[in-house]
Amino acid sequence: MSNQQVVQSKGIYHGLTVYPSSLKGLTAIITGANGISGNYMLRVVARDPERWSKIYCLSRRPPAIPNGLPKNAQHIALDFLKEPDEIAAVLKEKGVKADYVFFYSYVQAKPKEGGGLWSDAEEMCKEETAPRVTLEPNFYYPQEDFLWSFCKQQNIDWNVCMPSGILGAVPDAAMNLVFPLGVYASVQNYLGEKLAFPCDLHSWEATRCLSSSMLNGYMEEWAVLNEAARNEKFNTMDGTTFTWGNFWPKFAAWYGVGYERPSMDGSVYTEVTTRFDPPPRGFGPPGKYRYRFRLVDWAKQDKVQKAWWELTLKHGLKGGKLQDMDIDRIFGFTDGSLLGSTLDLTMNKARKMGWHGFVDSNDAIREVLGEFADLKMIPPIGN
Ligand SMILES: NC(=O)c1ccc[n+]([C@@H]2O[C@H](COP(=O)([O-])OP(=O)(O)OC[C@H]3O[C@@H](n4cnc5c(N)ncnc54)[C@H](OP(=O)(O)O)[C@@H]3O)[C@@H](O)[C@H]2O)c1
Repeated sequence: MSNQQVVQSKGIYHGLTVYPSSLKGLTAIITGANGISGNYMLRVVARDPERWSKIYCLSRRPPAIPNGLPKNAQHIALDFLKEPDEIAAVLKEKGVKADYVFFYSYVQAKPKEGGGLWSDAEEMCKEETAPRVTLEPNFYYPQEDFLWSFCKQQNIDWNVCMPSGILGAVPDAAMNLVFPLGVYASVQNYLGEKLAFPCDLHSWEATRCLSSSMLNGYMEEWAVLNEAARNEKFNTMDGTTFTWGNFWPKFAAWYGVGYERPSMDGSVYTEVTTRFDPPPRGFGPPGKYRYRFRLVDWAKQDKVQKAWWELTLKHGLKGGKLQDMDIDRIFGFTDGSLLGSTLDLTMNKARKMGWHGFVDSNDAIREVLGEFADLKMIPPIGN
């Protein structure tokens, strides 16, 4: 049957595309190759050296791969804030040519006072065709405009893939949802304390979607290798919904600690109201969220910082003292993800075009926690 599709599973990732063996000898550039997105894209394409014969990794620092870079990959140290001529000269000198460019470079600007990085995420576009939200500048829009005009001029194709909070383990990502969870569980376990859920019942029950970096990589490979997907913009997520309420007891069990559900006593919560009235959807009241404590404040406590340092010495961890980390940035991203309401980046468009990738986000978080432990950034799970 002509409309039959064959899919495969790799570990916890299911419904992945099977490509014809005739598709081989492709070359790629991955920018931001040591970041949370680029690192997994590299791992996805490096697995198939027949299909991807050469991968150039462009970033200032090399990708952190425990056993070194794969044979079909080469790191070229480049600072993209240098003059374009300087960058072009290095690429020419190294003979870089590629069929595909996966662009993941990212510089984190400090969020405005009171404006959490993703605090309005639940009000963002949920379908790829939704109109732009112009309540404030959004750095994605000029990037898209530039990409589209460049591709038109050069007569080349493009894709834009839009993830939710990304699940991945790298030493230094601007936004990393899982790392603070690993620190929180390890320290609470060490202190013999429970994993309290920081937010209210609404946040506990709300269905969200998360985006495992490995699955994003598989999908982005599918997008560039699928003719029907050319010049299309896609949501990119795990293909299933996720609730913190479902995750939290599992999380506590992995670490062998007790847990606390959200409190039913309204007086324990601090309420925050989102910034825009009306909100980005254009009607209705602003969102209201409630938290009991924030991981940002938890991580600033003396007893927590002391416990983390003792764990660091015990397990030979590499991240250093908590008080030397950018606690507001690192823990604030996870606080923003715990707070909030439903976020469903529908996968309808990609599914209709033949993308069937899926991973249980609970499994993905557990795998990523294990990878952080392998990188010596957190203790082994349960320690
Ligand atoms: N992380 C998330 O949860 C998340 C969620 C939704 C969307 N996104 C989006 O995903 C995209 C990729 O972000 P990410 O989270 O993967 O970023 P990331 O983990 O912070 O990685 C950023 C990459 O950019 C490179 N870079 C930074 N400054 C550079 C420079 N001057 N020259 C060359 N390379 C430079 C970094 O390497 P060096 O510092 O070594 O150069 C690093 O490889 C962004 O558009 C982001 O908004 C991320």
